[in-house]
Amino acid sequence: METRQPYSNEDIYKRRFQRSKSEDDQKPLQVISHDKTGNCKNKPSQPLLLAFVMLSTLIFITYSLTYHNHHYKNIPRAISNWKWGGGTDQRYVSHLEIKWDEISSVLDKLSAKNQKINGNIGFLNFNETEISDWKTHITQTNENQMVILHLDPVDKNVTWDSLYPEWIDEEQEEEVPSCPNLPKVELVQRKRLDLIVVKLPCETEGNCSRDVGRLHLQLAAAGLAASSRVNHLLFVTDFFPIPNLFPCKELVVRRGNAWLYEPNLKVLGEKIQLSVGSCELALPFKPRDGDYIGNVRREAYVTILHSAHVYVCGAIAAAQSIRMSGSNRDLVILVDETISDYHRSGLELAGWKIRTIKRIRNPKAEKNAYNEWNYSKFRLWQLTDYEKIIFIDADLLILRNIDFLFGMPEISATGNNGTLFNSGVMVIEPSNCTFKLLMDHINEITSYNGGDQGYLNEIFTWWHRIPKTLNFLKNFWIGDDEETKEKKTRLFGADPPELYVLHYLGLKPWLCFRDYDCNWNSDIFQEFASDVAHERWWKVHDAMPTELHQFCLLESKQKAQLEWDRREAQKAIFKDGHWKVKVRDPRLKKCIDNLCSWKSMLKHWGETNWTDDRGFNPTPPMITKLKIDR
Ligand SMILES: *[C@@H]1O[C@H](CO)[C@@H](O)[C@H](O)[C@H]1NC(C)=O
Ligand SMILES: *[C@@H]1O[C@H](CO)[C@@H](O)[C@H](O)[C@H]1NC(C)=O
Ligand SMILES: *[C@@H]1O[C@H](CO)[C@@H](O)[C@H](O)[C@H]1NC(C)=O
Ligand SMILES: *[C@@H]1O[C@H](CO)[C@@H](O)[C@H](O)[C@H]1NC(C)=O
Ligand SMILES: *[C@@H]1O[C@H](CO)[C@@H](O)[C@H](O)[C@H]1NC(C)=O
Ligand SMILES: *[C@@H]1O[C@H](CO)[C@@H](O)[C@H](O)[C@H]1NC(C)=O
Ligand SMILES: *[C@@H]1O[C@H](CO)[C@@H](O)[C@H](O)[C@H]1NC(C)=O
Repeated sequence: METRQPYSNEDIYKRRFQRSKSEDDQKPLQVISHDKTGNCKNKPSQPLLLAFVMLSTLIFITYSLTYHNHHYKNIPRAISNWKWGGGTDQRYVSHLEIKWDEISSVLDKLSAKNQKINGNIGFLNFNETEISDWKTHITQTNENQMVILHLDPVDKNVTWDSLYPEWIDEEQEEEVPSCPNLPKVELVQRKRLDLIVVKLPCETEGNCSRDVGRLHLQLAAAGLAASSRVNHLLFVTDFFPIPNLFPCKELVVRRGNAWLYEPNLKVLGEKIQLSVGSCELALPFKPRDGDYIGNVRREAYVTILHSAHVYVCGAIAAAQSIRMSGSNRDLVILVDETISDYHRSGLELAGWKIRTIKRIRNPKAEKNAYNEWNYSKFRLWQLTDYEKIIFIDADLLILRNIDFLFGMPEISATGNNGTLFNSGVMVIEPSNCTFKLLMDHINEITSYNGGDQGYLNEIFTWWHRIPKTLNFLKNFWIGDDEETKEKKTRLFGADPPELYVLHYLGLKPWLCFRDYDCNWNSDIFQEFASDVAHERWWKVHDAMPTELHQFCLLESKQKAQLEWDRREAQKAIFKDGHWKVKVRDPRLKKCIDNLCSWKSMLKHWGETNWTDDRGFNPTPPMITKLKIDR
């Protein structure tokens, strides 16, 4: 069976293009803009409001507007249109109180920047009471009017789970996956807007990053801003707006619940073209292989070693694979101070630029838990000398050039489970303030797995699905039938490669003997076993300069572990029979530590507590020169 490659297949574009055209023909929504909503004698009825009015004199100054007493005929209509089909759609309701001093302070900041609002202001998702409150705070002239924006709610059956399905038919074998159409805001009368003010709901307190209404309002506001060239957006909410749609670097000022943005309209316009959720594949801004040129010097592949020198060999092989794929982008590796100079020298020779980082602890992790320091990945956002990075785990191989991914926005990734993305391959846009955002919420947001993947999925709930061939997991699910297994195996081995990225889950190839995939010998790892994928990794290894092979040698303890597992498999008479294979890997005979008699370890295996690194103390000769041409 042919596996279609979505990125080299024009068909997908054609089909999607045709579909979106036919959808445009039958646009369901009708947006009404009302620009005549002044109420002249709108004196605040409560003393409290009076206080707000006084505070908001700043706004009056900003606008230097004057009250005009005409056009109120349409107010009742504007307001009745505000309700969702007669009833109020709870998904859009926000109970947040508007703090006029914050609003005023934020707008004041704009005028201080000499960018006073000089045109109409669009209002989205404010109720009747709030609109009349706004009217007491903003005066209108012929040039400066309040425009009530209308947005139809999305169908009730559109849930977060339906926007972010676990699986979609990427290869389009049965159907063309498609996302629901979300209603848009459109200006019926082409009124130029200078500012859009949007009140965002938060349906579930402290947990609103997966609210459909909240997402819809932001996408609708972004769409209107991009299409009508609206320079500023003001959100009223107590929780940060979608960080990769309205990046914090575009935040002009925030005061409490008032967030004022000055978006890059070109980029916003591109992001609005993306599918609403992961219900479809997100296609690169500039589609098709080879088309993407990008800003070579501001783009890099990045990986990280979590204080684990056992991954050094993996990272070296990954670098080799990237160069073999024909990419000349920078390679950057984040390491902490526990990685020795010896290992650093190997990484550098492989092409990695080394950045030493301070680790970041997950405050919710238990002491010494395996994932205690996994939040170190947040440091990726501090690589601000790059505009875009492709993060890759250190245990994968790039089989085909994936430079086109640099054309994708943050966060583009493959699906994991449920509504989540897999953080093994992701497109990231470094930004100091995004880093700060990640750090600011470290105590309140809980990661489902205690790792960065769980955390990032809480922050970046609006992510873009790339084909799974860009992070193809080396494993077989229990449910995989024979046909699926064969197909996967064929993909692991295909030459020329069909997969872009092969992610080595389970026991890593360099920690096995090269003769066969040692995942076969442990029942809990058998689902990760594939000799074909194993062999592929070793091909890349063999293509590495020979000086680098020493970083892939086996410690005595690992040899003992492998032999132990083999004996267990033999005792259990595993049907695959790999335990019968005679090991010819020359690394078996090479000792790199002072525990060389590893066979004697086996006598007490399981009784002894071997501490990591015991006796493993490679003495540099650091390698300084590499004579082999690559
Ligand atoms: C509008 O929202 C505010 C804030 O939640 C609330 O106090 C007010 O009662 C609402 N007004 C109407 C007409 O629903
Ligand atoms: C929602 O219901 C409509 C029909 O009313 C249907 O066409 C659409 O596919 C449904 N969407 C989802 C996400 O279930
Ligand atoms: C957040 O909301 C989702 C669905 O709305 C729910 O499944 C999840 O348990 C909630 N999480 C927290 C921490 O409240
Ligand atoms: C995804 O899988 C992890 C681990 O298997 C589990 O803890 C988590 O609840 C799952 N998430 C969803 C949304 O299904
Ligand atoms: C981000 O912060 C670092 C210091 O932590 C600084 O060197 C760098 O210039 C900043 N980047 C930008 C784009 O401001
Ligand atoms: C956390 O880091 C460890 C290495 O220290 C790594 O083995 C593990 O896969 C990481 N876990 C997650 C969930 O990222
Ligand atoms: C494990 O190590 C600890 C401390 O090094 C020691 O007290 C203990 O006896 C060891 N256990 C075994 C089974 O060797």
